[in-house]
Amino acid sequence: MNKISPSILAGDFARLGEAAQLCERSGADWLHIDVMDGHFVPNITIGAPVVKCLRRTTGLFFDVHLMISEPDRYIPDFAAAGADLINVHAESEGDTAKTVDLIRSLGKKAAVALKPATPAETVFPYLEKLDMVLVMTVEPGFGGQSFMADQLPKIAAIRAECERRGLATDIQVDGGITDATAPLVTQSGANVLVAGSYLFKAADMASAIQTLKNL
Ligand code: DX5
Ligand code: ZN
Repeated sequence: MNKISPSILAGDFARLGEAAQLCERSGADWLHIDVMDGHFVPNITIGAPVVKCLRRTTGLFFDVHLMISEPDRYIPDFAAAGADLINVHAESEGDTAKTVDLIRSLGKKAAVALKPATPAETVFPYLEKLDMVLVMTVEPGFGGQSFMADQLPKIAAIRAECERRGLATDIQVDGGITDATAPLVTQSGANVLVAGSYLFKAADMASAIQTLKNL
């Protein structure tokens, strides 16, 4: 069964706690929190103080997607705020393997995210250290964009390499996931699905989550 991580970016920012609780009640496995700094991506969203407040509203596992420059400077703040997993971009400055060690030293799960133009092989040197790899299926920065099918071979290449090494690494996809695109990514080897617009626009979030889970 797939794990579903609704993206709170598609929720009402004046009622984030209620949005998180809706996800929890609807059977979400995780909560995906998109952190954007207006520098690594051309949009600004949520910082660690907001994550800390959200932490009091829900018991959901917090999957924090950092789309920021200089992630090492801010990772301790997100860890202290209540992140359970911290997802950093391979394209951010610094040595990604060392950033992953930093996340682990804080007792958190670690993932590395790849923008559409970044090849699968980028994560291979430190694949063993990762709990998850995130394959972006849109250009990071905004919700509601169209799914990029050209990312499917990248998902398959990472799944094949994990299998070759005997690793049960999670593979997450993020961007444009709907009931139409989810079967494509799960067939390619993804098992953690982020969805923002699709879930928050659904008439019944619980049944939309079930649909994605049972693919
Ligand atoms: C995009 C974010 C995504 C976004 C997905 O940069 O990382 O998590 O919220 O939104 P949808 O599902 O609407 O494409
Ligand atoms: Zn995201």
